[in-house]
Amino acid sequence: MRKIRKAVFPVAGLGSRFLPATKAQPKEMLPIVDKPLIQYAVEEAVEAGITEMVFITGRAKRAIEDHFDKAYELESELEAAGKQALLDLVRNVIPKNINCIYIRQQAALGLGHAVLCARPVIGDDPFAVLLADDLMDADEGYPSVMTQMTQLFEEEGGSVIAVQDVPREFTRQYGIVSGTPYKDRVEKMHGIVEKPMPDVAPSNLAVVGRYVLSGRIFNYLEKLGRGSGGEIQLTDGIAAMLKDYPVYAYRAAATRYDCGSKLGYLKASVALGMKHPETRDEFLEYLRSLKNV
Ligand code: UTP
Repeated sequence: MRKIRKAVFPVAGLGSRFLPATKAQPKEMLPIVDKPLIQYAVEEAVEAGITEMVFITGRAKRAIEDHFDKAYELESELEAAGKQALLDLVRNVIPKNINCIYIRQQAALGLGHAVLCARPVIGDDPFAVLLADDLMDADEGYPSVMTQMTQLFEEEGGSVIAVQDVPREFTRQYGIVSGTPYKDRVEKMHGIVEKPMPDVAPSNLAVVGRYVLSGRIFNYLEKLGRGSGGEIQLTDGIAAMLKDYPVYAYRAAATRYDCGSKLGYLKASVALGMKHPETRDEFLEYLRSLKNV
């Protein structure tokens, strides 16, 4: 089975749920404690053995390229000031063996269109897709979510989509899958629909922002017209592909934070602030002092 070596990060969305913070900077650069969302997603991919990072960017996304590039002025100033620890932090944002490739999506035509923009770099290879605004905090004792998914891909050979159970009233915010139980945490999918109303949703299993896809997906995406919300939907491409090739829905062993929403972002900041070695103790003390809220 081919190993997954390439990941696509679609970062060309408008981030309208987080305005005005996202007016002049990408939502993927919003920090949780001390790292931007995009860095958490890249680290997750690195842990899974991925070496080629393909960013689908748009206007006002320059900060992402700068973040993963060398910062000459900053580095020489930190060096001159003898601030070695900070210098290492800045230099090690991304390991040396990783390649970053940037492709511009000319217009925000949807996630399916963004993924299709990666075709010239991905070719026929299977690849990962990570939506950095979905922050995945793996459960104790489990590797990163992308590692969990690439392991399943290597066992089964079909595409893998991360899902979680959501309350039925929220189905209209997600892609919703239908399938039959296959093995622990895994369903073999036979359908997927974008943002169905609760009364017609085929289940309450919702797609979250992690995918391992066969390179065949491009053949289906290129034939799609505009779907839900007038956008070219990745969901519609997957729906077409699963009629011909196996796709598995995987209940990831993780807590997912929707950091594209204000509430999800706040929850992630609290959860990770309680774990970070520099903030943990004082932050816990502070939270306990709020017990009367
Ligand atoms: P969202 O549905 O979260 O859209 O996109 P958005 O525009 O980023 O945010 P809101 O809803 O306006 O607040 C899901 C993912 O797909 C990417 C986004 O960057 C996000 O990671 N995307 C979406 C693109 O890269 N291009 C698009 O045309 C649309």
